[in-house]
Amino acid sequence: MREEDFIFKNPENKILDSSFVKVKSPSNIALVKYWGKSEPQIPKNASISFTLNNCFTSTILEYTKKENASKKPNIKVIFEGKEKEEFKPKIEKFFERITKYVPFISDYDYIIKTENSFPHSSGIASSASGMSALALGIMSLEKKLNAGISEEYFLSKSSFLSRLGSGSAARSIEGPLIVWGRHPKIENSSDLYGTVFPFKIHPIFENYQDTILLVDQGEKQISSTVGHNLMHKHPFAENRFTQANENLEKLTEVLIDGDIKKFIQIVESEALALHAMMMTSNPYFILMKPNTLKIINKIWDFRKRTNSNICFTLDAGANVHVLFPNREKKEADLFISNELISFCQNNKYICDSLGEGAEIVI
Ligand code: DP6
Repeated sequence: MREEDFIFKNPENKILDSSFVKVKSPSNIALVKYWGKSEPQIPKNASISFTLNNCFTSTILEYTKKENASKKPNIKVIFEGKEKEEFKPKIEKFFERITKYVPFISDYDYIIKTENSFPHSSGIASSASGMSALALGIMSLEKKLNAGISEEYFLSKSSFLSRLGSGSAARSIEGPLIVWGRHPKIENSSDLYGTVFPFKIHPIFENYQDTILLVDQGEKQISSTVGHNLMHKHPFAENRFTQANENLEKLTEVLIDGDIKKFIQIVESEALALHAMMMTSNPYFILMKPNTLKIINKIWDFRKRTNSNICFTLDAGANVHVLFPNREKKEADLFISNELISFCQNNKYICDSLGEGAEIVI
């Protein structure tokens, strides 16, 4: 689908009265990372992620027909029961960005009630789940105005709108493995929206586990927007984009043939490459903490000692995502609780696994 296919067409010009929709959308964890973009939210390389199940945002989008049609929509944001003025500018900017594709949003005022299943300020990226939940809420409104749209269009456009809110959010609408960014070896992949990994996944990856170790629950040291911008003048940027696209090609084979040792090598290398980009940008950042490195070394040591296929990946932060096949859950859980939990802030961690994506609750 092309960009112009996502522009809303509604010959009836219908306007609804007040109503609401409740949606739920998960976070995702990239295996091949998106780091570097151009306007409007076009990734510099293709990425692939596991959709999560337990880390999600629930959003109730209440919309009321506006009294004064010429005024901008009034948006009130309530996060975990409290009104949050500081969340408004990001959402208003998102609304402005998507108005071209969903012009009907200008007909309403909004109350957005939202909450996360994971602890606030846990360092877990809430932009992917939060923005995709909001995008899905708006698409549910579009469907009420034009019931004739296909399921495929609904999902692609939900991801398209999510992307305009936050790049990684494009990968949260469906699951369990989502590609975002045009890649010559992945048919139907697009820079505009996420698509489901089109090949049969090897059974070893079914119900794959992700235990998120909360090493640092503070505010993010750099926003992802600032981080992505640092790739513009980065001396290694072009090589990094090529590397990511090559890794996606290699990972595609691995996901089909189940070569778990290669999976580990690609996934860990991707995480370290992402952090290497941050350490070598101007200005530079180290987002890992001493405990991040301790955990990584423990994982490597455990793999050497046992036949385990446990591995790690990282976001743009200090937390560690510990990935392992479901069939190794017992041993992995034991190792994590005996040897890794002590490196988490307040011993906090979240057990998650692969999920199927966002859903409309009511
Ligand atoms: C390191 O999607 O948060 O998690 O598009 O500016 O909202 P914006 O960035 P964002 O970047 C995510 C970066 C990452 C890697 C990834 O998820 O692929």
